[in-house]
Amino acid sequence: MLSKHKILIGITGGIALYKACEVIRLLKKEGAQVKAVLSTGAEEFARPLLFSALTGEKTYTNSDFFSAGSMPHIELANWAEAILILPATASFLSKLRCGQASELLLALLLATRAPVYLFPSMNTVMLEHPATQENLKVLRSYGYLIYEPAEGELACGEIGKGRLPEPLEILEVIKAHFKPKDFFGKKVLITGGPTREYIDEVRFITNASSGKTAYLLVKEAYFRGAEVFLLWGHKEFPYELPKLNYFSDIPYPKIITTLTTQEMFDQARAIFPEVDIGIFAGAPCDFKPKSSHTGKLKKREPLTLELELTPDIAKGLSKIKDKQITIGFALEEREKLLTYALSKKAEKDFNLLIANPLETAGADTSDYLILGPVFQEEFKNLSKEKLATLVFDLIGRLS
Ligand SMILES: Cc1cc2nc3c(=O)[nH]c(=O)nc-3n(C[C@H](O)[C@H](O)[C@H](O)COP(=O)(O)O)c2cc1C
Repeated sequence: MLSKHKILIGITGGIALYKACEVIRLLKKEGAQVKAVLSTGAEEFARPLLFSALTGEKTYTNSDFFSAGSMPHIELANWAEAILILPATASFLSKLRCGQASELLLALLLATRAPVYLFPSMNTVMLEHPATQENLKVLRSYGYLIYEPAEGELACGEIGKGRLPEPLEILEVIKAHFKPKDFFGKKVLITGGPTREYIDEVRFITNASSGKTAYLLVKEAYFRGAEVFLLWGHKEFPYELPKLNYFSDIPYPKIITTLTTQEMFDQARAIFPEVDIGIFAGAPCDFKPKSSHTGKLKKREPLTLELELTPDIAKGLSKIKDKQITIGFALEEREKLLTYALSKKAEKDFNLLIANPLETAGADTSDYLILGPVFQEEFKNLSKEKLATLVFDLIGRLS
């Protein structure tokens, strides 16, 4: 995902710098080139060798600032495509706010044209101090991208705001950074997860869909700047999405839980006329008990359930389809994949239909058959994350 991107990590003297090690490891795994620069405070906590071993590159310290015959602050400032300061200490933020260039990391930040993300991390009282808050406000006005610290247990033992976010969340911020914002201004409706059809107040029929594809589609749309509405069949949304509130115009996805197929349909009908793109990646139950019992059924004798059809969401919406581009999914037996995919695409008036074989349900990678208006293409062993990118690339070509 981050293949060959040049990312510079500036590490300052906060206790959370141990998390920078994991961030570097994750970035390297994604194919990025990473260089680390330590502030003078960070040098008190860790030796450069640790970061050199993780990056596979020389780690810079302040002793490199005045080395003869080179200007590392300019070279590094020009090398980086993006710079992350993690953790960013209170002391470092105050020096940066004043435009100090008294050490290598500060000087290179003053000299760079690359976007700079600051991840403040400190004790809650230090964070809430008017001086720190004022520094953050001024730094934001200078164009620094400031990521809100997380809440939770802090290294000092207190509980409050000031934690460095977890490495996986930081990785998502970088992934979002390198995505084109080509869906900015577009509204996207996505359905995801299985619905439930209740037999009584505690028992229900459902299916094994995890909703992971829908989550990855939501993430892709959000990272590419779209306003996203997710109709989510599960009770809770178990995934974390970073808050891109430093891009003030990209709204955080609206996640609406809809337990039954009828609820999902009603919500979809209300939102669909407002959107540009509808993606039906949910797994709504196709059948529901004809009658649902109040309370809990007693276990006395065998129970026969009579099932009836639930509304077909995509088909129902195809009747009110106007300007929208619609994308459907089909999980079918491998031998019948093409036949079913063709008929489903036509029946539901989809612009794109993504079909995958039954035996890959729940797996992280799958073979996919994608049918477009004038093309039909097979993809072997594609990860769900790559599929999400491909879907939006294809939508981009349609619109
Ligand atoms: C054990 C220890 C942990 C520290 N953790 C933090 C921290 O999490 N955040 C912070 O802003 N300062 C923290 N400090 C204070 C900084 O290390 C100190 O202000 C230092 O001068 C910062 O150097 P820098 O400006 O190069 O970042 C800590 C200090 C110690 C001794």
